[in-house]
Amino acid sequence: MSEKVLYEGKSKIICEGPDANSYIMRYKDTATAFNGEKKEDISGKGKLNSAISNLIFEYLAKNGIETHLIKIIDDTSAVVKKAEIVMVEVIVRNVAAGSFSKRFGVPEGTALKNITTEFSLKSDELGDPMINDSQITAIDIASEAEISHMRSQALKINELLCALFIKMGIKLIDFKLEFGRAGGKIILCDEISPDSCRFWDAATNKKLDKDVFRRDLGDVLEGYREVLKRLESNA
Ligand code: TMP
Ligand code: ASP
Repeated sequence: MSEKVLYEGKSKIICEGPDANSYIMRYKDTATAFNGEKKEDISGKGKLNSAISNLIFEYLAKNGIETHLIKIIDDTSAVVKKAEIVMVEVIVRNVAAGSFSKRFGVPEGTALKNITTEFSLKSDELGDPMINDSQITAIDIASEAEISHMRSQALKINELLCALFIKMGIKLIDFKLEFGRAGGKIILCDEISPDSCRFWDAATNKKLDKDVFRRDLGDVLEGYREVLKRLESNA
């Protein structure tokens, strides 16, 4: 466990991989919100997110989505393809919540007439501002073709995830994806976990995601454990 650390983020560490085309990605227990202003170590979060994200990435790969995941190493680490992260977050929303509700004055839980996609510039310094297609190409973050590919992949991923999660009695409210360039392609990177998605219990609307931490609503990991338990019997 002494690989050279290449990058340490808020919730993950990227280390040198076993070969020139891979990295080792390790999940940390740290939880942050509001651009790192709120920060806490939640023992066991790394393991839960790792298990949840691995099951989701394996499910997506089986269904034709190219991801960075190569091989799971242990409870918190995996070998992933070396990719150059595209510096935007891709957000898909099925139901109004979070910043969408705040920005547009639409109550949380309001069904949307159509699925929305949006991009945020990945910049802690600037607070991840929303950015549109022409702004992304103008500052050379990604090409038009790359934007279009990320958006269509995100919508396909949304369809696959909604189908999976509804079987588990969970509504997928919204989620955030990151993509990277590897071998001339754009592939799905980062993680898909309760840190990066809003999951509501379909029967009770109980929050099973990081909003419990962001809003101080109680035991954060209770929902994460519930998501993993249901995924293990459905993915
Ligand atoms: P938002 O409503 O706060 O914009 O969040 C939309 C989705 O993106 C939600 O599922 C949580 C996720 N998200 C991240 O993964 N990282 C972030 O830094 C933020 C702000 C949101
Ligand atoms: N990634 C955000 C942070 O910077 C947290 C969030 O997901 O709201 O702390």
